[in-house]
Amino acid sequence: MPKAEKGGWVWQAQMRLWDAPVCGLANLNSRIVGGQNALPGSWPWQVSLQSSYHFCGGSLINNQWVLTAAHCFPSASGVNAVLGLQSLQGSNPNRVSRTIKTVIVHPNYNSGTQNNDIALLQLSSPVTFNNYITPVCLPSTGSTFYSGVKTWVTGWGDIGNGVSLPAPETLQEIQIPIVGNRRCKCSYGASSITDNMMCAGLLAGGKDSCQGDSGGPLVIKQNNRWIQAGVVSFGNGCAEPDFPGVYTRVSRYQTWINTQITTNNALWPVWPGLNI
Ligand code: ARG
Repeated sequence: MPKAEKGGWVWQAQMRLWDAPVCGLANLNSRIVGGQNALPGSWPWQVSLQSSYHFCGGSLINNQWVLTAAHCFPSASGVNAVLGLQSLQGSNPNRVSRTIKTVIVHPNYNSGTQNNDIALLQLSSPVTFNNYITPVCLPSTGSTFYSGVKTWVTGWGDIGNGVSLPAPETLQEIQIPIVGNRRCKCSYGASSITDNMMCAGLLAGGKDSCQGDSGGPLVIKQNNRWIQAGVVSFGNGCAEPDFPGVYTRVSRYQTWINTQITTNNALWPVWPGLNI
């Protein structure tokens, strides 16, 4: 039986793997170690957005598009998307870097409320998939993610309020449950949490994404594939009790993402040799 059924997350009739033949497979992520450092290749869609330094995360959704947060992009000049990284410092044998050709910030992004905090980046040229660089799956419109379901968040952001990740800045991973919108509104106020947002974290505090993780993925495993439910967006401090992190609800943007990337002629590439 799929574990997800026990965990309360039900695969709805309208949910599907959204036309992405190779998405969501992390061939090297064969175990979960409660630790903090991610093993190489565990999260092969993780992107580091860098100007002269890392400033935000992102996720690879096909061979030339990256999903990130709108608030990461007040300006787009001189930005590189770096893939296949285990750590920000040191040698990274699988590192691939691209400049950004197109930035599409959601037209209804509101920097005051963080509503629609989502953006798409087109890489200067496509990347080739391998065990360290693979796109994540996206959830269809109407996907339901229940409270308490376990998610994973990854990033190179701060490890505490104002405490940056120490050298060599290895990618961090954390497992946290979904907090329902109704509960999340109790913390942030009803008008602050819209249907375009979702929350995840511990009400006791202590585990959360933080500054520098923004734009990165919150993923859920479903039948060996990883689906991106959220984009790191904002929070009240980091890991504060009663304040889970707030994420952009990716399932609300299927139509928008599809329209943007198809008008820009992106094809879903098939990974040779993969049978599904
Ligand atoms: N806005 C932050 C950034 O730009 C991310 C904050 C996430 N905060 C949280 N408590 N989960 O990196």
